[in-house]
Amino acid sequence: MIVVIDGPAGSGKSSTAKAVAAKLQIQFLDSGALYRVATLVYLNCQKDYQKFFEQLEESEISFHFKKKKFHAFLDGRDVSDEIRSMEISENVSEVASNSDVRAFVNQLMREVVKQNVYIADGRDLGTAVFPDADLKFFMVADLETRAKRRFEEVKSSGKNVTLEEVKQNIAARDEKDSNRSSDPLKKADDAILIDTSEMTFEEQVAFISTEIKEVIASQ
Ligand code: DC
Repeated sequence: MIVVIDGPAGSGKSSTAKAVAAKLQIQFLDSGALYRVATLVYLNCQKDYQKFFEQLEESEISFHFKKKKFHAFLDGRDVSDEIRSMEISENVSEVASNSDVRAFVNQLMREVVKQNVYIADGRDLGTAVFPDADLKFFMVADLETRAKRRFEEVKSSGKNVTLEEVKQNIAARDEKDSNRSSDPLKKADDAILIDTSEMTFEEQVAFISTEIKEVIASQ
């Protein structure tokens, strides 16, 4: 079974999906983290696309969800914190707009979800990666709310950044992620729209958990 939550940066999809996964004891997959790992490989190759693709094919990318945290590994090294840096955030939309990179990440995701019940979050999961998902959500919130959330998240990980910088980064990524030609950020027709601007975190988790339980009960 696969449940997907798509939406723009900072809409709360990742933290909500994590909490739902912990509550229902299912697996969580953070697809953005995989694009971030690919971006780390890209930066390690000094932004040389030729080298990057060779390196990506040779890299071992893996992940797991433990104790409410999603861990991503590059060649056996836990890079979960490293991939949240502003440098990665500033380059990830460019890397994610490449169709070869998208095919690589999609393949990785489709393989892994065959093995368990997953809730995954991303931008194009309901439209392109898992069009037949059992349940789809599309989460939105206004820019100000999203920037504040991401700012708190980045700050609490000890990084030195201003709210304005985070806001600009989110707005720029929204623009790139929504307008790229290869599988842009888009609500699937059959996705349930959730605007979290005025919702508490607990309300979001409860709403999605209830919907999932209903689908499980009906299967
Ligand atoms: O969810 P996030 O902010 O960590 O995602 C990082 C970037 O990865 C985001 O700006 C766009 C890209 N992304 C994507 O293109 N498709 C996905 N399914 C998930 C993320």
